Formats: sequence, C-alpha cells, structure tokens
Amino acid sequence: LSSLSFKLPPMGWMSWELFRCNVNCTGKYHDTCIGHDAFVKQATVLIKDGYFRAGYNRVHVDDCFANRQRDPVSGDIVADPTRFGTGGMRKLATDIAPVELAVYSDCGTMTCMGYPGSINHEVHDAKLFFQKWGATYLKYDGCYNNITGYPSGYAKMGQALRSAGGEKTYYSCSWPAYLGDDETKKPYAQMTAAGCDLWRNYGDIQCDLGSLMDIVDHYGDYSKFLATVSGQGKGYNDPDMLLIGNTCIPDGAARLQMAVWSILAAPLIMGNDLRLVPTPIRDQVLLNEEAIAIDQDPLGIPGYRASNKSDVAELWVRPKLADGGAAVAVVYKGGSSLTRARLERNPSGSAWTTRKIGAVQLGKTKKLTLHVPFGAEIGWSPPSGTASVRDIYARTSLGEHTSGVDVSLTVTEGIPETVLLRLSDAADSRAVSDA
Ligand code: DGJ
Repeated sequence: LSSLSFKLPPMGWMSWELFRCNVNCTGKYHDTCIGHDAFVKQATVLIKDGYFRAGYNRVHVDDCFANRQRDPVSGDIVADPTRFGTGGMRKLATDIAPVELAVYSDCGTMTCMGYPGSINHEVHDAKLFFQKWGATYLKYDGCYNNITGYPSGYAKMGQALRSAGGEKTYYSCSWPAYLGDDETKKPYAQMTAAGCDLWRNYGDIQCDLGSLMDIVDHYGDYSKFLATVSGQGKGYNDPDMLLIGNTCIPDGAARLQMAVWSILAAPLIMGNDLRLVPTPIRDQVLLNEEAIAIDQDPLGIPGYRASNKSDVAELWVRPKLADGGAAVAVVYKGGSSLTRARLERNPSGSAWTTRKIGAVQLGKTKKLTLHVPFGAEIGWSPPSGTASVRDIYARTSLGEHTSGVDVSLTVTEGIPETVLLRLSDAADSRAVSDA
C-alpha cells in the first residue's frame, strides 16, 4: 500500500514527552495539559519561530484526549469537552491550520492509559479521524492486544485509513515496539504490507540522557539490519521523539540526537515545549536546514552505525544521498556509562557539570581528533577522487580531501558531542559554486 506513494519521514511536535496524560487543564496547567488551548499554543510557536517553514508541519495529539466512553448514539470517540470544548478535534484541526493534525488511537480495546481503543471499530474510526476531524496522521499504539492480534489488527486499520484518508496520510504503527528487543525476529515485510509508513521499533524515550543513549545503542546494534527492511516505499524506523530543546539533556547530546536521527532517516517529531526552546539550540540544531535535508533526503535510504559499538567514539553513515554524496556523524558517546551516570545538572538551570569521585576528576575537557576514512568503511568514496567536506552544525566548509578527513572535537568527559558532516564530490561542489 505505502509503496504507491512517495513519503519522507514525518516532522512535527508531539504532546507525550512533556504533557503526558495531564488531563488537568485548570489554572497553572492550562497550557501544559492535553487540551485545545495547549495544542494551539504549540502550533502558534511552530509557525512563529520558523519550525513550520523548516518542515515541521504537524501537531500530534497523543493519548488521553478522549472521554472514557464512546458516544452511546454515534459510537464516536469524543474529545473530552471540558478540555477541548464542544468543537472537539475538528475545531482543533481548524484552529491550528495550516499546521496539520495527527491523532492517536490503539490497536486494542483500550489505549495504554485506558481510553477507547479502535479494535473492531477500524472503518468507523478511520472515517472519524480522517474525514470528520481532518487529521492527516494516525499513531496506532499496541496496548491491550497481543502478538496474535497485531497482524490482522494493524492490517485492518491500514486499509481503513487508506480508504478514508487516501495515500498521503501517514500511518505510524507501534506494533514492533510490542514484540521484544530482537529486531531480526520482527515481521517488517508484514508491516509494510499492512500499510504502515513508519513504526516505533523500541521502548519509549524518557527525558534523560541514559534513555537517549540506550536508544542510540539499540538502533546502532540493529541499524544495518533495519536499513534492509525500511526506507522509502517500505516504511521508516521511529526511534521516538526528539528531546532537543529540553533541559533534560546537554547541548552536545542534542547535536548527537539530531545527527543520528537524520542518518537513520527517522521522523523528526519534537517532544519539547516549543515556548521554552533556547534560541541557540533551535537555530543550530532543530532548524538546521542542512541536517534536515539529510533526514529528508529524497531517496529515503536509511544509514547505519558503521563502526563497532563504543563508549567513546562511533561513526554513523548515510552513504546514499540523492546528490551522490554521503552524510557522516562522528559521535562522541561521552565515555563509559558510569561517567555519564555521574553527570549532574547545575541546580540553577540547564548547565551541566560533573563531579569528583574519589581521586578521579570526571568531566575533564579534552580535544579528540577522529579520522573519517573514505572508502569501504563508510560505504562512500568521492568519484573524482576528491571530496569536499561540510561541517553542518558549524555551517562551514572543512575543505577538500582525498583519502579521508580528520575531525577535531572539543569534548568534556561524560557529555556526548557530535560533528555532522556532509561529503560531496569536489567536482560537483565546484560546479555548484561556479553556477
Ligand atoms: C506508549 C507509546 O509508546 C508512547 O509513545 C505513548 O503514546 C504512550 N503509550 C501513551 O499511552
């Protein structure tokens, strides 16, 4: 089904990471809850601060928006009117336009938080979501069902969604996230056939560095396999929301997440409060048009971790980009997990410090020089023999190179950091700058 349409990894903002299941929209919670006004506020900043223009075009309502019971007469799932008003989801879609609305349901009897699920209501609910409400995306969770129910459950909704919403709608399946950790044992071809445009493979991201690094390791371990079962026409792997812009991770980890997600051709769905994103991180990372261009490369061929897993440094590559070039992330992991665990946040704000344990002073600042070799190891070499190298976050050229390039990073032990490079054939980039 999804092979008929041309789709890139979706981009947007999602409520779950920060607003969770906060159904109290009164007083101080009015704009951090699952309610109409809170979503309108995020959509407003999405437009005002340049995210929408950069490609983040959807606001995702996650779990906990509905009444506990369907409407007894129509059978519809109804957004709680005390939080969404009587206009419900249709009104929300209208009020956030041109930002598009993404909705959430579950391939089971209930959502994870106990709201109505869509199993055995697929045709009815797909019409409701896509025709009555005007949503363009469905995240379909997997609580209250099991391994025997998923194949038919996800296929049924896939079919209903395409008939109600057409080819352009996105179908995000949480199916593989409920099948354990061994990616090689999951039925990815079946998910493509069910119409899934993307899937959550693994556990939920939490707003902390340990969770981010665990996800990076999981996708790193399976990325070569996952690259064979995913991509344009098959479906994209979704390592979950971006923590970028939150104070729960240091800035270097924000650069790491954007780089790794772009290499993986992952969805760029933010799990922050857009009103609180620090301007430097917004402009350098979230709105970095060259990083986004890697993520959104029209070939839609995912990259992978090219080196072995390491606590220190890894190379991640996306060797097949539409212009014949490649993307490389030089990833400093921050040292051992012990070092990372000792990271402490400065109590007054978002600055990160490390502390002294016994005789060892953690958090030494040092300069690392890492070599990126062209050729087999990164799956790419410049056709003309010379590559030009672009540092994406610094927005500068690192010059022309023949056999590889040395990358210098200034790092603080315990704090991840990443340099994202775009490599192109020097002959091509000369032609571009001549033009
Ligand atoms: C589990 C999902 O993986 C999360 O992203 C979120 O949607 C929660 N369920 C909501 O209950």
